Amino acid sequence: MKLQKALLSLLAVCLLSITVTLLTQAYWQEQYYRFQSKCNSSDSSEHLVAREVESSQRKCKSPAAHTQSITLFVRVAATVPELRRRFYCVFLRLSVLFWPASLGKTVAVLDQENEEEHAFASTVLTHMRQHFPDRTFEVLYEPLPKDPTVLDFANPPRSPGYNRQLYSSFFIDLYTNDDIIAWMDADSGFASPVTNESIFNGTKVRVLGYDCTLTIGWVQAWARTTEKALGLPFLADFMTYFPVYIYRDTFTHCREHILRRFNTSNFEEAFKKFYRREFISPVSVVLSYAWYFERERYDWNLKLCTDLTEYNKRFPSEHIISPEHVVETLLIPQTAFHVQHAQGVRQFVSNSYCLSQEAAGNDAEKCSNRTASLITNFVLFNHDVQRLGHPAPPCPKNREQTCLQLLERNYNQIGLEIKQKTRKLDWKNVEIVEKLAKELKLQCDVLK
Ligand SMILES: *[C@@H]1O[C@H](CO)[C@@H](O)[C@H](O)[C@H]1NC(C)=O
Ligand SMILES: *[C@@H]1O[C@H](CO)[C@@H](O)[C@H](O)[C@H]1NC(C)=O
Ligand SMILES: *[C@@H]1O[C@H](CO)[C@@H](O)[C@H](O)[C@H]1NC(C)=O
Ligand SMILES: *[C@@H]1O[C@H](CO)[C@@H](O)[C@H](O)[C@H]1NC(C)=O
Ligand SMILES: *[C@@H]1O[C@H](CO)[C@@H](O)[C@H](O)[C@H]1NC(C)=O
Repeated sequence: MKLQKALLSLLAVCLLSITVTLLTQAYWQEQYYRFQSKCNSSDSSEHLVAREVESSQRKCKSPAAHTQSITLFVRVAATVPELRRRFYCVFLRLSVLFWPASLGKTVAVLDQENEEEHAFASTVLTHMRQHFPDRTFEVLYEPLPKDPTVLDFANPPRSPGYNRQLYSSFFIDLYTNDDIIAWMDADSGFASPVTNESIFNGTKVRVLGYDCTLTIGWVQAWARTTEKALGLPFLADFMTYFPVYIYRDTFTHCREHILRRFNTSNFEEAFKKFYRREFISPVSVVLSYAWYFERERYDWNLKLCTDLTEYNKRFPSEHIISPEHVVETLLIPQTAFHVQHAQGVRQFVSNSYCLSQEAAGNDAEKCSNRTASLITNFVLFNHDVQRLGHPAPPCPKNREQTCLQLLERNYNQIGLEIKQKTRKLDWKNVEIVEKLAKELKLQCDVLK
């Protein structure tokens, strides 16, 4: 009897390990194929993705294990000291605090042709392996477009380096197999804990858009270039919040749409036709595409300063915005900001941290001297914390009770997750990154 049991469990273990091995192999084969096939899918159109994935974690997971896994994506340009500083002090320091490792891996993409970038990436990978072994961090390299005039041309709206970031934004899907991409701008950082509710409404991915910035010249230019790219009107400004959550295949489909529209298989050629003289916001192009072709996959939260009937005049009748897509005040607090524009971001960070610890019933040392209050957290209801374009206070006077309740619910949920140990929120992580930055002679500002 005992022997039989032992044999049975041995058999079970064997089967399990065979399954795991097969799944792992399948995953790597798929990964390899994906990169392979992207590399030669058409001679000049597609982007080359460096085939070797450098990762801080060597574990393989089966694809089934990460349905709905989310990749936190950032495009890094590491040759400029200020950008290296931003990477450590803003992106990394705040993501190790507020982005739960359980949501998925982080992917950083750097310039392939530049040795300095490889050296920087190797340092970051070492740091992540040593200090954050529970986080998967990958580096991938992006080659230059084949045609140099894609980035470098006469009277460009932006520098060639900046143009490269813009161009590469259309290829983010090539750097991960995860279903969803959390796209961080190079100058955005987290300001409060990322929750499932801030990413999903039910099964739909939340997106936040804004029309109030359409009074600004460069946003009007974004609207014109979006329409040039898609052949359909710009829906709204989607550069006002981060991370922007987008299904990976929405990028693929958007690129295919643009290729068809310009009757080419070469995206470089298409890009040159819609981006030349005026500014572009790739995120607004991709999400405008999603509005026309994949509306039901997303939960739309549009804040409009224009009267809805008036605003709708620009859209084909089957694509007009309904009241259900419009929100007066956000229903979920923001989790990240454009740091450059948010002078007070440091203060939001520690407030959010202390409110979370308080909700978990913890006396965090960091919070001993302060009185964190929900009111100071109202700023998280702003669609946009840029200096321009937010005429109204984040939570209007007549909605203050609602805002307080929403914040309370948010922090209670976070507190509960901390108590149940499904969420880690550890200020030590911030200090580790500060120390690493210092070793690299990068000076992080103090988070009060
Ligand atoms: C890409 O090229 C490799 C090697 O030349 C070939 O084996 C593979 O089938 C090609 N893939 C596609 C999708 O054409
Ligand atoms: C958040 O969502 C992920 C993926 O859908 C799930 O695995 C996780 O348990 C959720 N976390 C909480 C705290 O609900
Ligand atoms: C989720 O979507 C439903 C249906 O559109 C909406 O009524 C609700 O307000 C949304 N909830 C949040 C938190 O955005
Ligand atoms: C697209 O390009 C092909 C090949 O150059 C050409 O035969 C076709 O007529 C073009 N179609 C349109 C709609 O311009
Ligand atoms: C709290 O305030 C005291 C006195 O101002 C200061 O010495 C101490 O470092 C502060 N503690 C923290 C955790 O900020």
